[in-house]
Amino acid sequence: MTFTVRSVGPDDGPVLAGLHVASWRNAYRGILSDAFLADDVEDERRAVWTERMANWNPARSFAEIAEIDGAPRGFVCVMRDMAPEHGALLDNLHVLPGHRGIGIGRRLLADAACWVADRFPGTPMYLTVYFANENARAFYARMGGVASEPYDEREHDGRLHRVMRFAWPKPELVR
Ligand SMILES: CC(C)(COP(=O)(O)OP(=O)(O)OC[C@H]1O[C@@H](n2cnc3c(N)ncnc32)[C@H](O)[C@@H]1OP(=O)(O)O)[C@@H](O)C(=O)NCCC(=O)NCCS
Repeated sequence: MTFTVRSVGPDDGPVLAGLHVASWRNAYRGILSDAFLADDVEDERRAVWTERMANWNPARSFAEIAEIDGAPRGFVCVMRDMAPEHGALLDNLHVLPGHRGIGIGRRLLADAACWVADRFPGTPMYLTVYFANENARAFYARMGGVASEPYDEREHDGRLHRVMRFAWPKPELVR
């Protein structure tokens, strides 16, 4: 199966929110609360992407959508200014179920890292992942991410969750 990638445009907020909800409902089942995934997640993600796209600054943020036969199947977003003390925050990377394991995640992560290295030389890229998300942790380790110690953080469903960071101190090395 082949895929293509494209940059996001100003009208992609609903596309990104839809991808986000679909992936969270699948990948975060048993991690975030059932009530949140069943109900609140749609409004919450729509609000996040509406606000993000309204204030989108392509000099400080990068997002890309992966498509198969013209249908959106995954996306990545990285922002320089969310927590600048740690570097550029990769928030988020998702590939829809049924389309994982064919290289989309690798391509999107590498494109985001390449953007960080080009725009902000010397700046690390990092992300936060649920400790319970073993597949994503294995993927990030495979992609050369340096794991932090786990810690607890209050998350989207209002509950405390065990999370950890992965960092790429030299994003230019991600392939
Ligand atoms: C995690 C995720 C982004 C990975 O994307 P993907 O398209 O499935 O991964 P790729 O096919 O690009 O795999 C890249 C490499 O990672 C490896 N990999 C991927 N998933 C893996 C896993 N669960 N365990 C071990 N290795 C894994 C692949 O084998 C591949 O290695 P190779 O190139 O040496 O063969 C994707 O599975 C996903 O969206 N998961 C659900 C949402 C999620 O958890 N996102 C992360 C939120 S923090």
